[in-house]
Amino acid sequence: MSRPRGGAVAVLTAGALALTLAGCGSGEAGAGLSVGGAYMPQPVSDMAAGFLTVSNDGGTDDTLESVTSDIAGEVTVHETEGQSMREVDGLDVPAHGKLVLESGGNHLMFERLKRKPKEGETVSLVLHFAQADAVTVEMPVKSMTYRPASGN
Ligand code: CU
Repeated sequence: MSRPRGGAVAVLTAGALALTLAGCGSGEAGAGLSVGGAYMPQPVSDMAAGFLTVSNDGGTDDTLESVTSDIAGEVTVHETEGQSMREVDGLDVPAHGKLVLESGGNHLMFERLKRKPKEGETVSLVLHFAQADAVTVEMPVKSMTYRPASGN
C-alpha cells in the first residue's frame, strides 16, 4: 500500500503549490495593486496636491484608507464635488478596476509641509489599504502647470 500513499502525497503537494502561486496573483507587490502616473505639482504654499492611479488586477475590492509621507504633517484624501472638495475616510479601489486621482477630481492633500519640494525632486509616500499591503510610491514633482499628456 506504500505506492498509492506516495502518489497521494505527491498530488497534495502539487495542489498546495498551485494554491501558493494563485495566492501571489500577478506576482507584483501589493497583492494585485499597482500604482502609476503619480505626480505632485510644485507647491506654492505649505500644502501640496498629489495625483496617481491605483490599478487593482485582483478579484478583491479594496479601499485606500490613508496616506503617509515624511514631508507632510498629514496627508488627507479628498473627493471633489463640483467646485468644492471634502476630506473622505477612504476611496474604493474596485476589483479589476482603478482608483483615479486626477486634477479636478479626487486627490491627495499634503498638509503642513516640512519642506517645499521643487520640480525635478521626488517625494516618497506610502499608501495604506484595507486589504492589500502598504505600497510605497516615489512621486515626481512637476511644474505648477503640469498636466499628464493623456488620460489614465
Ligand atoms: Cu483637496
